[in-house]
Amino acid sequence: MSVRTLTPDDAQAFRALRLEGLRLSPESFGAHIDDEENLPGAEFARRITPTDCAWVVGAFDESDILRGAMGWFRERGAKRAHQSTLWGAYVQVSHRRIGYGSALLLALLKRVDALPALRQLQLHVWSENFAAKSLYAKFGFRFVARHPESLQVNGRFIDEELWSLSLPRSI
Ligand SMILES: CC(C)(COP(=O)(O)OP(=O)(O)OC[C@H]1O[C@@H](n2cnc3c(N)ncnc32)[C@H](O)[C@@H]1OP(=O)(O)O)[C@@H](O)C(=O)NCCC(=O)NCCS
Repeated sequence: MSVRTLTPDDAQAFRALRLEGLRLSPESFGAHIDDEENLPGAEFARRITPTDCAWVVGAFDESDILRGAMGWFRERGAKRAHQSTLWGAYVQVSHRRIGYGSALLLALLKRVDALPALRQLQLHVWSENFAAKSLYAKFGFRFVARHPESLQVNGRFIDEELWSLSLPRSI
């Protein structure tokens, strides 16, 4: 397995992975499959085009097939530029529990740890997503708050939790 930052050349594979995630794990994402499945390919290319304050890392198998991804962005503006967000974490079912999620998160953390004046990495997670919460806890994220009925998924209201990691981790 290898992990690298995605580029617009990965847009087709990222789109397929993203839509699979929205379809199979609706509780794990703020977006609905209907919001994204008809978006043009260029929109997915735009989302993964790396900048100083936003990029997506991807995990590839031995055949260089994209099996998982995690996105990151940093807030703008003097008051919020110390905050950043992890979004869109997803590993294909066939490749879970063999370290892809950890490898993605480690790669992401190594990169954000080196950024000056960045103090927080936050994320939202479904309150019943024990697999993801266990992964985040292992890397030092801590529960901050619970947002009751944050999402409506297939007619059911579900809670999300805000988790946060203080940066840099070496302090
Ligand atoms: C959460 C997710 C990204 C984890 O990816 P993964 O590749 O399976 O993770 P890893 O193999 O690196 O596992 C790392 C740790 O996560 C936790 N974990 C992963 N799957 C788990 C499960 N099914 N049950 C309990 N803990 C689990 C464990 O602590 C695990 O460490 P361990 O194997 O030493 O016990 C993956 O399950 C996924 O894509 N889920 C659907 C989408 C999702 O929930 N995204 C998160 C949105 S916030």
